[in-house]
Amino acid sequence: MKFFIDTANLDQIKEAQALGVLDGVTTNPSLMAKEGISGEANIINHYKAICDIVDGDVSAEVLSVDFDGMVKEGEALAALNPQIVVKLPMIKDGIKACRYFTAKGIKTNVTLVFSVGQALLAAKAGATYVSPFIGRLDDISTDGLHLVSEIREVYDNYAFETEILAASVRHTMHIVDCAKIGADVMTGPLPAIEGLMRHPLTDSGLAKFLEDAKSL
Ligand code: E4P
Repeated sequence: MKFFIDTANLDQIKEAQALGVLDGVTTNPSLMAKEGISGEANIINHYKAICDIVDGDVSAEVLSVDFDGMVKEGEALAALNPQIVVKLPMIKDGIKACRYFTAKGIKTNVTLVFSVGQALLAAKAGATYVSPFIGRLDDISTDGLHLVSEIREVYDNYAFETEILAASVRHTMHIVDCAKIGADVMTGPLPAIEGLMRHPLTDSGLAKFLEDAKSL
C-alpha cells in the first residue's frame, strides 16, 4: 500500500519524507488555507516546494467547478512538474475533465467520493486515483471502510486500473484497516502514520535490552 501524507505543511512533509516511507502528498484548498497560502503565485510556488521535497505524486486541486476552468487550471498545474496529479471534484464537469486529462496522459485524482457509483464513474473516466473520504463518512455514522471494500470489489470485477486512494484517514487504525481491505493508497496525517510504529512491548523490550547491555 502506498502512503501519502495529507497536508500542505512543508515541515510535516519533510518529516514524513525523512522517515523513508512516503510515496506522495495530497492537498486540498482547506489544507492550503490552513498554511496561510493565498494568491496564484504563492499557491504555485507551494506546489513546487512540495514536489522538491517528495519523489512521488502530489495532488493539486483545481478551484474551478466548470469544465473550461478545470482544464485551464489543471493544465497549468500539470505543467509545473510531472509529479503533479490534477485533483478534480466528483461532479459532472469533473468527470468530463478527468476524461480530458486522461486522454492527454495527465494523472488525475477524483476527490469527494462518497459512493460506489461515483467511484465506478471515476474509473470509467480513466481516473488515476479515486478518493473515498472514509473519515467524513464515519463522522455521519456511515461505515467509510465498507465503502472502500465495495469499491475494491467493483474495481476487481472489471480489472479497473484506477487506484483506490483512501482519504480522510483520521487515525492509525484507519490505515491498518485500509491495508487489510486492499486500498491501493492511503492518505493521512503524520501522527496517524507515526502511530503505526508504537507498541508498549517494543518500548519496554528495548529498555530491558539497553539495561542488560550495560553488563556486556
Ligand atoms: C483527501 O484528499 C482530502 O484532502 C482529505 O483526506 C480530507 O480529509 P478530512 O476529511 O480529514 O478533511
